[in-house]
Amino acid sequence: MTGRDSTRRTFLKSAGAAALLGTTGATAAGATPRPSRPSPRPFVHRNDYDFDEVYDRVGTDSVRWDRAVAQYGDGIVAGMGVADMDFRAAPCVTNALAERCTHENWGYMHRPDSYAEAVAAWNRRRYGIEIDPDSIVFTTGVHPGIIAALHTFSPPGTPVLLTTPTYNGFYTDLRFSRTVADDSPMIVDSEGRYEIDYDDFERRAKRCNAFILCNPQNPTGNCWSAEDLTRMGEICLRHRVVVLADEIHCDFVTGGNAYTPFASLDPELVDNSLTFKSASKSFSLAAMKVAWYYSTNPELLARVRANTRADLSTLGMVATRAALDEGEPWLDDLILYLDANHDFAESWIRDHLPGIRHRKGQGTYLAWLDVGEFAERIDAAGTAARESAAGSATVNAEQVVQRWFAERAGVFLNPGSSYGTGGSGYMRMNLASPRAVVETALERIGEAIAAM
Ligand SMILES: Cc1ncc(COP(=O)(O)O)c(C=O)c1O
Repeated sequence: MTGRDSTRRTFLKSAGAAALLGTTGATAAGATPRPSRPSPRPFVHRNDYDFDEVYDRVGTDSVRWDRAVAQYGDGIVAGMGVADMDFRAAPCVTNALAERCTHENWGYMHRPDSYAEAVAAWNRRRYGIEIDPDSIVFTTGVHPGIIAALHTFSPPGTPVLLTTPTYNGFYTDLRFSRTVADDSPMIVDSEGRYEIDYDDFERRAKRCNAFILCNPQNPTGNCWSAEDLTRMGEICLRHRVVVLADEIHCDFVTGGNAYTPFASLDPELVDNSLTFKSASKSFSLAAMKVAWYYSTNPELLARVRANTRADLSTLGMVATRAALDEGEPWLDDLILYLDANHDFAESWIRDHLPGIRHRKGQGTYLAWLDVGEFAERIDAAGTAARESAAGSATVNAEQVVQRWFAERAGVFLNPGSSYGTGGSGYMRMNLASPRAVVETALERIGEAIAAM
């Protein structure tokens, strides 16, 4: 471990200890008094999972923490970027992996039929949809599945329909398939609510072969209703656009909202779609590299399957299977915890972060922060223009805001401009962390703004 790692470990430990004492690391160390704020909603543990535990990931080559440190240096105290979770894994996953490691042979592994049956059972139990296990195709991630589908339906150079802001990784998938984005910007009202602009959506659908649906939508958090999904599905069917439904965030739904699977719609619409999923978001198994897609339409499925090759790893399969078979109590508990994190972040931002606006999302564990006013205050656009003109790598206003938060608050956020049209003026903040880390990140941002 480097000296830098151990400094950060000390911070994280004190943040964890402070959370138990009801104070932040800074105050515990006798530094600045903390600003008054509403107390976090008390969390009721229905099981024995301690999501308040600050579980240190620094120095493990994690993208979320170590890459932020590599980019901005030692001052990073909260990595709130890439969409994975900071919690200790579900015990059933760790136990299954430990048990498999007692058999010290890692040769080729057969995937038994019961594997697809476990995926089908999970979908039946949690979302009430029936999936034929034979229609499930495994991949090493949602990305490789979507890329295989784009290779199948959308020849190089053709436009692919997206409703934006949307998951930035889709733009990488388009690059891999040599296709181009056709962004249909969503309409956002003064309260921060997003909806589809159906006229624009249909105009673009006429020239596209595929639409990547994000349900729930990363980064805005929309859980699309049956009416919205039907409307999008009908337009796509009318114009022969295949719907690629990425539903990887489907387990994360905030209180009072619901996830509607695209596959639960009218069969005619479902037959024009493939759904992409994984336990990797729900259980934070991102680097285990196991995902799947399925379709009720044998012809679509066979065509994409012909472009898919996935060799899953032993440990990825073991972890996923354990999560699906035994992980529900952990996940149900976690969903409540994350909902409370959302509530905490929403009220804290409203009360303590001038120039930043935020509305709690219906789904995902992501907060989509409107930083437009704040960006103007620091003249982010002017700085970006000056730096670009001076010949440094092209910089945009959100990257300037990112740097500002990283350097002055030690908090790493994702720049909204990478989420397509409509993302400018926003930053994405990952709330899937122990409350103490979320609290510290928000406090540090507040202190940096106050010190301006
Ligand atoms: C909407 C969405 N799709 C796909 C992915 C990545 O999926 P995978 O790691 O399985 O390729 C992410 C990761 O953040 C995501 O948010």
